[in-house]
Amino acid sequence: MDEMKKLVAKEALKFVEDGMVVGLGTGSTTAHFIRLLGKLVMEEELEIYGIPTSYQAKFLAIESGIPVVSLDEVDAIDIAVDGADEVDPNLNLIKGRGAALTMEKIIDYRAGTFIVLVDESKLVDYLGQKMPVPIEVIPSAWRVIAEEIEVFNATAELRMGIKKDGPIVTDNGNFILDAKFERIEDPLDMEIELNNIPGVVENGIFADIADVVLVGTKEGVKKMER
Ligand code: A5P
Repeated sequence: MDEMKKLVAKEALKFVEDGMVVGLGTGSTTAHFIRLLGKLVMEEELEIYGIPTSYQAKFLAIESGIPVVSLDEVDAIDIAVDGADEVDPNLNLIKGRGAALTMEKIIDYRAGTFIVLVDESKLVDYLGQKMPVPIEVIPSAWRVIAEEIEVFNATAELRMGIKKDGPIVTDNGNFILDAKFERIEDPLDMEIELNNIPGVVENGIFADIADVVLVGTKEGVKKMER
């Protein structure tokens, strides 16, 4: 599995050109990309700037020698490279297992080209097939928001820490609800509906924004495009 992740990370480097501002995604697959990009920047003395989507991406970018900038400092993001938890045949995504969905969405949406890196286990027939939708919420409102989500025939659970007692806290100081749907028929509509609930900061459905999905398979990298 890790080999497939490395393979797609290497393929994504082909989209990078000197002078670009690159959105740096979160997760284990993008971590390979960030390390490889750092190596490329150093070896070829490229002028590349990275915009990280999380503290994980930021620390790794700095460690890898990629100059890091914030949204305040750039006019445009040329490309963003990020992972995903589910990809449907129309390139709609579920993201946010790493709890970084809000900054990921802000950066991925603004990128000229949004490139997604996954292994083949992430491909699904429809969103919600395997994974819940992570939803970042204002902490004091988590319980009432969970009730609102259940109106959509979903179950919503507060995500608890693995190495921490109590709920996990995002980079923005919020909680995460994991909402398990039977099947998400209309990803764009559900993305909008969830964000309409007061107290929801952002949800992990990324409908209609991925331009390219690079899929690591046993036979090599497959490219899905819109
Ligand atoms: C982070 O919040 C997520 O959106 C990740 O991009 C997603 O969970 C994929 O992570 P992996 O590459 O580790 O599977």
